This record gives sequence, C-alpha cells and structure tokens, in this order.
Amino acid sequence: MTFQPTAGYPLHRPRRLRAHPRLRDLTRENRLGVDDLIYPLFVYHGTNLRREIPSMPGQFQLSLDRFREAIDEVVELRIPAILLFGIPDSKDAFGSAACRDDGIVQEAVSIAKRQAPELLVITDLCFCEYTDHGHCGPLSDRGGRLDVDNDATLPLLARQAVSHARAGADVIAPSGMMDGMVKAIREGLDAEGFTGTPIMAYSAKFASGYYGPFREAAESAPAFGDRRSYQMDPANGDEAIREAALDLAEGADIVMVKPALAYLDVARRIKDTFGVPLAAYNVSGEYAMVKAAARNGWIDERRIVLETLTGFKRAGIDMILTYHAPDVARWLREG
Ligand code: PBG
Ligand code: ZN
Repeated sequence: MTFQPTAGYPLHRPRRLRAHPRLRDLTRENRLGVDDLIYPLFVYHGTNLRREIPSMPGQFQLSLDRFREAIDEVVELRIPAILLFGIPDSKDAFGSAACRDDGIVQEAVSIAKRQAPELLVITDLCFCEYTDHGHCGPLSDRGGRLDVDNDATLPLLARQAVSHARAGADVIAPSGMMDGMVKAIREGLDAEGFTGTPIMAYSAKFASGYYGPFREAAESAPAFGDRRSYQMDPANGDEAIREAALDLAEGADIVMVKPALAYLDVARRIKDTFGVPLAAYNVSGEYAMVKAAARNGWIDERRIVLETLTGFKRAGIDMILTYHAPDVARWLREG
C-alpha cells in the first residue's frame, strides 16, 4: 500500500484538537510532574562548603552542614527523591572508604532520613569516586592491560550496599556496569535482612562523553584509559535490551537508561519489551549544554527543559534523574 498523505482530508483535520487551549489540555498524552523527579546531590567532607561546579551552574559540592539546607529546599519544592554521591577525603586502590559505616554517603543518608523521613533517599553505588585510579572497581592485570576486576568487585559492591542500607538508604542504585552486580547486591542485602530495599540498576549505561562535567564534580575521572571495557558502546541497542533482561533476572526492581537524550530509543524499547519501572539519567553534559546556551541567551531555558523532560515521558520513562529538578519544580508550581 502506498502512503497517502492526504487520505482523510478534508474530513480529518487534526488541527481541530489544537485550536482551543482547554482542548489541547484534554488531549495531552503525557504530563511531566514534580513526582517524576529525582535530584542528584554531591556530598563532601568538611564544613561550610558550597562550591559551585563550574561546568554545572547552579549545582554545588556540599559539606554535610550545607547539605542540610539543600534537603530543606528539596522538601519545600516537593521533590520526592534525591540521589546521593559521596566524595571521600581519602582514596585507595580498592575504594575502601566507600564501605565504611561512617563514610560520607552513609553520614549524608542518615542526616537526610532524620531531617526529612518522607524524602526518598537513593544512593549511587560505585567505586570510581573512592578509588585512587578512578575506575569503578579494583584493578587486575589482564595480559599486560590493567582492567577492572569484575568478580573481585562484586563482594565489595554487596558490602557497600549493605552499609548504605544500614545507614537508611531507601533505594540502592548500582552504576558500575559490572556483570552480575545486581545478583551480588540482592544476595548481600537479603543476607543482612534488607529484603525490602529495592535496587535501581543502571542497566543500560553507555560509555559517554556526556559525563564530563560530572567527573569534575565528583572528582572521579579515570586516572588512565576510559570506561569502555565496562560501560556500553553507544552504538548498541539490542545489547541494551540484553543488559536490562539480565538485571531484571538478577532482581532489579527499576532499570535505568543513561544518558537520556541520545538514548530515548533505548528507553522506549526497554519499556515496550519489559513493561517495568524505567528511569533515565539526564546527565551532567546534557545539563551543561542547556545552561551554556541559556547563559548566552540563545535558548529559552524553561521552555527547552520542560519540552525535553516531557519528551522523556513520551519515550516511556517513568522517573527522571535531573539536575534541573529544583527549577522544574518551581516552573511547574508557577504553572
Ligand atoms: C559513576 C557515575 C557517573 C555518573 C553517575 N555515576 C559517571 C561515570 O560513569 O563516569 C554520571 C552522572 C552525570 O554525568 O551526571 N559510576
Ligand atoms: Zn563508577
């Protein structure tokens, strides 16, 4: 059958439903709400630290005392959830500071839960902020090439997860792209009685240039090489489905696609294939591009951000991790 661009005209006039603003409201298919948002925060040791991240205007490195103010703001804006990243004061080859019950993230979690018990606290679970080499787990020699030792990382991830759960984390979000990580973390949590703690898996996490500003913020850039031996090749969509299938089989409760903008096809495919709760991470580079253009007066920031995030919903994404969350909460409130 050949395509008939004007087959229904003049009986069919799609513009009829676009003429009246109230009719446009009634026929709108997707809505962005403050309930969809998860706000990432970076916590540091020290006091009275609130250092703006140069490539992420409006985002800050926070010491725990200033983190309390951020929590108040998040609660006031009715943002339902935060994602925590911790930057330790000492790093080693194994990232051991990540597993300490008195570690930076663990402290931040307990502060947040005491201050705002109704706020959902999600912890990013990885080692790259904690290792001196900046990779997402301990290294081993693979025939003359140093690479993250997958199976040595798994028990460490389980230990870190238990320590986050003990501190009060509501959801654990492993981001390291290790094979078998969800199973290892699930078993580790269950063995310590945390059977009710959900896992939000960074399932389709691509080796992306869009993480650049984050690595400055979290001081987690790899000291050598890159993350292509564990994060996915941006060219691969079928493989993303296999990754999501594996994580779901291992017990993931929520799966994530990351970054968001260049991977909305992946999001849609995962949603259609599995019909599971789906998150997308609107990452630092995506945020930086919008901020840079807005600062130059080249785009309408509010309009572009709301359009983009609504596009995520249209792609089947249920929850959005975004640095724009406070702005979006304000804009949605203003209506
Ligand atoms: C660490 C991690 C990264 C991000 C979240 N967790 C960076 C990376 O993989 O290097 C990226 C977040 C962002 O760019 O906003 N595993
Ligand atoms: Zn990592």
